[in-house]
Amino acid sequence: LERTFSIIKPDATERNLTGAINAVIEKAGLRIVAQKRIRMTREQAETFYAVHRERPFFGELVDFMVSGPVVVQVLEGEGAIAKYREVMGATNPANAAEGTIRKLFAKSVGENSVHGSDAPETAAVEIAQFFAGNEIVG
Ligand code: GTP
Ligand code: MG
Repeated sequence: LERTFSIIKPDATERNLTGAINAVIEKAGLRIVAQKRIRMTREQAETFYAVHRERPFFGELVDFMVSGPVVVQVLEGEGAIAKYREVMGATNPANAAEGTIRKLFAKSVGENSVHGSDAPETAAVEIAQFFAGNEIVG
């Protein structure tokens, strides 16, 4: 079974939406095999989003990710990476399909409630940044 890395972002934890988002995840057939609520350090956020370093919104993105608690998760299932991206919906909630997490809950393209890995290589790196092997229980 494939694994993907997920973050429930500060705009969602602030509105007490962790359970509602987890319900959508589980209804889609994905299993939450690791989960913890943390406050990301600025250094962690900068490392996590290093690929976007040159983008004009990088500073805003890092500020947002450290602005409140996040819930980091590992999700497991058949085709988990693609499936979770489908469940999340488009980056900009204005373009997200009905029933997706971002359509249901996201506030804007920046405050878009969730993150999900985009490929097996990034999933492995992202999971390793936040979880030790023995914290993941499949
Ligand atoms: P992630 O799952 O979070 O990686 O989202 P994504 O893969 O759908 O989008 P992408 O990797 O292109 O961008 C990463 C994150 O940067 C997005 O989820 C947004 O939070 C943020 N982001 C992207 N575009 C903008 C923008 O125009 N303005 C702001 N403020 N943030 C943006
Ligand atoms: Mg991305």
